[in-house]
Formats: sequence, structure tokens, C-alpha cells
Amino acid sequence: MSHLLLLPLFFFFHLSYSQILPLNILNSTIKASSPETYIIHVRKPNSVQTFNAEDHRNYHKSFLPTRSLTSGEPRLIYSYRTAISGFAAKLTADEAIAIEKLDGVLHTIPDRLLSLHTTHISDFLNLHPKSCFMKDTNFGKGSIIGILDTGIFPTHPSFKDTGISHPPPNKWKGHCEFKPAMCNNKIIGAKSFVHGRKDPPFDSDGHGTHTASIAAGWLVKNAGVLGNARGTASGLAPAAHLSIYRVCQANGCLASDVLAGIDQAISDGVDVLSISLGSTAIPFYDDAVAIGALAAVERGIFVSSSGGNAGPVPATVENDAPWMLTVGADSTDRSIRATVLLGSGEEFNGQSSYQPVGFTSVLLPIAYPGARGGSRAKTCSDGSLNRLNVRGKIVLCHTGGSNTSIEKGAVVTKAGGVAMILVNDEMRRSTVEAGVHVLPTSAVGYSEGARIVEYVTSTANPTATIHFKGTVYGASPAPAVADFSGRGPSAVNEGILKPDIVGPGVNVAAAWPFPVGPPALDAGNLTLPTFNMVSGSSASAAVLAGVASLLKLSHPDWSPAAVKSAMMTTADLLDRDGGVIVDETLGDAGYFALGAGHVNPTRADDPGLVYDLQPGDYVPYLCGLGYTDKQVSTITRQSVECSVFEAMVAEELNYPSISVAMGSNMEKTVMRTVRNVGEEEAVYSVQVRAPEGVEVTVYPEKLGFSELKQNRSFNIYFSTGNVGERRGTVAQGQLKWVSNKHIVRSPLLISFV
Ligand SMILES: *[C@@H]1O[C@H](CO)[C@@H](O)[C@H](O)[C@H]1NC(C)=O
Ligand SMILES: *[C@@H]1O[C@H](CO)[C@@H](O)[C@H](O)[C@H]1NC(C)=O
Ligand SMILES: *[C@@H]1O[C@H](CO)[C@@H](O)[C@H](O)[C@H]1NC(C)=O
Ligand SMILES: *[C@@H]1O[C@H](CO)[C@@H](O)[C@H](O)[C@H]1NC(C)=O
Repeated sequence: MSHLLLLPLFFFFHLSYSQILPLNILNSTIKASSPETYIIHVRKPNSVQTFNAEDHRNYHKSFLPTRSLTSGEPRLIYSYRTAISGFAAKLTADEAIAIEKLDGVLHTIPDRLLSLHTTHISDFLNLHPKSCFMKDTNFGKGSIIGILDTGIFPTHPSFKDTGISHPPPNKWKGHCEFKPAMCNNKIIGAKSFVHGRKDPPFDSDGHGTHTASIAAGWLVKNAGVLGNARGTASGLAPAAHLSIYRVCQANGCLASDVLAGIDQAISDGVDVLSISLGSTAIPFYDDAVAIGALAAVERGIFVSSSGGNAGPVPATVENDAPWMLTVGADSTDRSIRATVLLGSGEEFNGQSSYQPVGFTSVLLPIAYPGARGGSRAKTCSDGSLNRLNVRGKIVLCHTGGSNTSIEKGAVVTKAGGVAMILVNDEMRRSTVEAGVHVLPTSAVGYSEGARIVEYVTSTANPTATIHFKGTVYGASPAPAVADFSGRGPSAVNEGILKPDIVGPGVNVAAAWPFPVGPPALDAGNLTLPTFNMVSGSSASAAVLAGVASLLKLSHPDWSPAAVKSAMMTTADLLDRDGGVIVDETLGDAGYFALGAGHVNPTRADDPGLVYDLQPGDYVPYLCGLGYTDKQVSTITRQSVECSVFEAMVAEELNYPSISVAMGSNMEKTVMRTVRNVGEEEAVYSVQVRAPEGVEVTVYPEKLGFSELKQNRSFNIYFSTGNVGERRGTVAQGQLKWVSNKHIVRSPLLISFV
């Protein structure tokens, strides 16, 4: 009954104040006729506490011109309850403009397609938290990880619950929409939100199955990709429960579907959300993922998100909100070796997941379509090899162009080539993917490739073969930041250093729904569990989601910001050989590639001190970005008046990394607060490596603690001389709090303005 009473009231509510609002997003040149999906953010009604789902729908419908389109299709697609205050509906552009003018409406934006963050095919996940940490957290027992992705292949052995006898915790409210036999104590929830339809949450792409198994796949013995690198496959938190939200298809994810997934995950009661999708950075009030993530963080849910695959170009990092963990991708020390042997006797190590047995050791002639052909031939793009004589030869191809590395293999095979040497282009440098190729292949780095090309172009009858050597550990340098990993600074939301951290994301082997590799190997063996090598920040975000679920179990009273601080202040800056972690150019990876460093789960379990933040702390931060009250209210889902807050600049947010903009002869003070989560009694002393050209003083220089949970604040004073030619550049340093047990490190980044 209640909604019948409510509706007239709402009409009164919007129409009584016909305020005209600025139309900052809608492009009036958009075709006015055909209805499209819009996301409409509205003010929370005052009586929201007493609203049930039906009341919410009616409240949202009351903003619509009619209930249905002329075709009879209902306009309302989603009525959100938690992720945002608002709804998604079909509207024409004119109707959307009219709605934006209604009182109670904060912000209207057209739906948009976000991308999945895996674009690179490629190795085994080689990161197991040391057994002590695993045992203390019971391998993730009792934790629920929500995966927003392309769905899942539920019958894969990675999702068996043989080792998980415990049912979901009492707080769990979710449902599994597969047939009952496919749901178990591993997959406790699964739901689909694709274009508002109720399809089963099956994964027809592979991405979702892969990320879910990375975060929480159960142990699968003798798992391998094409018979290589056989070993036990395991997710980071193998005993954790999974709840699957299918919000993407192979071509991407609609923002309205992603919000519906987050909305559901929050009300279901997940502990951690893994989000491996996104789009180029945009202001937070237009960013559905950022707004939904803040709603999750307010309920104590940790959000791990991928920093995108648009690197190594600067300012390409995605999912850059300070309440999310933004994860970049790096490599591991495992390589699946395919060594190129040239006729000259020179050898170059490359990689390939397809390791054919008994490939010829006889030297074969090399065909190099790039010697004279254009860029299509150089990259062995489809159709470009037709007139070339590659039959029976090893074909030298460069990465790039319109076909993926795996597709190039098919192109070469079709043209009669018998093997492929795949050379990285300059952008990719040393990041080599161990692809599941369809013919014998060695993928090599840029510098190895340059020497092979030099041999081929300077020799009359160049020849080569490939020696397949299987899995090799201890490859160095490792970890190294991947070429594709999204780089800081954030293009639009500057002030916070992003990415926050990096984790394994190159050549990660995990569950896959279908067979991969040379067609001959698939035949008749569809029942074998299949695994695939994939590279991308998607994989890294899923790794960090698994790590976060373990940390939350180990420290149930930590907020999402405290978990993030623990991860960041304990991250590694040195690789396995003790050198500074490098990027794909093999030069030092700066903070814009590496964030606070490479995740070290065991150390993150015992950080000593944490930099904490409460959800309310983000409000003055958002006001400080210069957003209007409506824009801030859209993001926070609460009515906010920025004038009541003291203006806050991003650098003052109590963040575990410190990023400060400085002009000439400038002085600035930034305050931070740390909480003791180590030993009851502890004394920490400060150690600063000042960025070049900046004086840094910290007061006090010692922080003493006499009990747990005590907070201590300190000031960091920055001063510069003449910035001169350094304007527009950045300088890096670090700040460490050091006790006899702990080192709590924060990156210091100065941008000269
Ligand atoms: C609106 O869209 C048109 C066509 O897509 C484009 O040319 C124009 O620049 C857009 N205007 C604004 C303000 O975004
Ligand atoms: C190569 O790329 C084109 C364009 O994306 C596509 O149509 C074609 O099927 C691809 N070739 C192969 C062998 O996959
Ligand atoms: C499928 O793979 C299994 C395990 O490697 C093997 O024992 C079996 O012979 C294969 N079947 C076919 C038809 O290739
Ligand atoms: C330290 O700060 C946190 C968060 O601001 C607060 O919850 C906690 O009670 C404080 N600790 C003490 C001992 O006051």
C-alpha cells in the first residue's frame, strides 16, 4: 500500500521547484529519437529507511515520463538500492534533458561500455603466500570474494568444494542462479546482469573464469596449459567462497550492468570485490565504477581494481579513486622457454606455452615479410602473406597490427609457414608473453628481436630453429613492471599517486572454459580441465583481491583503507636479485609504473603502523577537487554542502603514499596520522630520502606507542628553491618509519608546478 501513497507526493516533490540545472554531460547533438540507456542519479528520499524494493522502484519510476516505451518495453532497467541513489532507464536524449531538470535529480549520464582488462594472452600464477600466513588465515576460509566479470564456468575443477566443508557465513544473503548441482560451498552466489536480462551467469568468454580462479580457485593437481608446467593450480585464497556477478560480455561491460552487480554484491554481503574492467579516467561523478566502489567501501568491503592495460604511455592508469586499490601488472620469475637458434650460432631465449615435442632441430629458412612489405606484412596481419613465399619456413613477425599474437600464428599456418618468431615492437620492449600459440613459436623481447632482424637482413640465406626447453624458474629480472600496465599520473584526478601497487599479471595460468592452443591437440579431449595463460592488470587485481581476503580474515577490525595501507607500506621495491624493480625498458620503474611497489602478502600481514581513512574523509577531499554540491552528492549518495567543510587538498588525505605539488620558493606542510597495529610498546624513528630539489623535514622525528590502536600524527614540511627548468617534472623520494621490528614506507612524489 505504501507506494500508492508515496507516488503523488513525489510528483509534488519534483514539480514544485522547477529549477533549471546546467547540462554538462548531455550532448544535445545526440539523436533525439531512439531511446538509449541512461543512468540517473537522484536525491535520496527522506523516508529511505522504510523503503522496500517496491517503494524504491516506484520512487524511481516516478521520474520517468511514461512507464513503457511505445514498443511496450518497460523503461526502467535497474532500480539501484545501494551502489548509487538512482536508476537506469531507456530514454530519448530529449527526455533525458527534461529529466535532468526535475528537482531531486542530481546527474544524468548516458550508459557507456567499459572494457575488460585483459588484452594479452600468455604463465602460471607463481605466488603463494608463505604457508604461515596461509595457515593463520585457513587459506581464506569463511571469506566471500565477489567477482564482477563475464560470469563463470562453474563445473571447472578449480571451483570444486571438496576441501570446503563450511557453508557460507550467516550474514550471507546471496543466491546462486545456476542449477543447484553447479552451486556449492565454493560458488555460493552467481547472478547475471547483462543488458538488464536474466541470462544464466555462464562465462562464454573466459575472462571471468580466469579471474575467479586466480582470486579463489581450489587446488587442482597436475594442472597445466597444453601439458606444460604441470603443477598444482591454486587461487590466492583457495578456501574462500566466490560470488559471481556477470556484468560483462566479450565486447565489454555496460556501466548500468556494473552498477547492478555492485548493488547486488553489497546487499549479498561480500567481503571483497574484484573489479577487472574500466575505462580511461574520467571525473568521479561520471565514473560508475568509482561511485559503486565508494558505496561498497562504506560498508567495509575492500575493492581491488585493475589499473588498465593502456601502458606504457604516461597518464593511462584507470580506476584511480582513492577509496579503491589500483593494481598494476608485473612479471614473475617463471618462463616457458622457447630458444631461437640462428644459423650464425647465436641463441636468444623467448617464450611460448605451446611446447611441441620433437620439433625439428634442423635449421629452416627464415621468411621476413617485413623486409620489404608494409606494416601489415611486418606484423603478419591477415591477408598480408598471401603473395609471399613462406611455405615450409620460419616466419619472422612483429607484434602489433590488427591481429593478436595467436591469430598471427593462424595467418602464418594458413600461408604454409611451419613456425613463427614473434618479435616485440619498441613499446612492448622486454615484456614477453608465453602465448598458447597454434604453431611452434618463440616470442622474444625487443632487443633480442632487433638482433635477429639484423641477422636476417644482413645474411644471404638466413636460417633458424626453435628449441623448446619447458618451464624455467629464476628468470630475471623479476618482477618487472609489464609494458601494458596502466601508468600514472591519473589523467584527470591528480593529487593521489596511482597505481597504488603492482602484482603478478604477466603470463598467469588459471582456469579457462574451453580448450586453447593448436586445434590438433583439442580433438576428442574436451573433458580435460583447461587452463590458459593470460596477461593483464585483470589478473593482478584478482591476485590482490585474494590477498585482501586473507588480510581481512587475519585482521577483522581493519577498514578497507587500513588493509590497503598495510599492502602499500610493506611492498617490495627490489626484485629477486636485489636490484631496483625495472620496467619493460629494463630501466628503473618509477612510482608512476610501480606505485608503492610489488605486493608482499606476508609482510602486509604485519605492517606495524597503518594510515587509516574513514568513508567520511573522502567528502572534504571530493569538495576540494572543485566539484559542485550536486556532483559530490552524486558520488556520496548523501546531500552534501561543500561550504560546511574546510577546503581540503588531495595531498592532505591520510593516504599511505604522499604526492605534493610544489612551485618555486614554496613551503608546504602535510599532516599524516598513523595507528599502531604492531606491538603494544614501540618506538618508530623517521628516515627520509628527500626528492632531489626539495627539503623535507618531519616533526616529530620519533613516534612512541604504549598500546595498540593508538594514533600518532606528524607533520611533513616541504620547501623548494627556484624550480626553474624542473617545472612539469617529478622527483621521487621516500619516508620511512622504522622500529626494531617494522619498516613502514611511503613513496614521496613531488610534482614541480
Ligand atoms: C557532440 O557530439 C558530436 C557528434 O558526435 C561531436 O562532434 C561534438 O563535438 C559533441 N559535442 C560536445 C560538446 O561534446
Ligand atoms: C585478423 O583480424 C581481423 C580484424 O580484426 C579479423 O577479421 C580476422 O579474423 C583476424 N584473423 C584471424 C586469423 O583471426
Ligand atoms: C585426453 O587426455 C588424457 C590425459 O592427458 C589422456 O589420457 C587421453 O588419452 C586423452 N584422450 C584423447 C582422446 O586424446
Ligand atoms: C585512532 O583513530 C581511529 C580512527 O580514526 C579510531 O577509531 C580509534 O579509536 C583511535 N584510537 C584511539 C586509541 O583513540
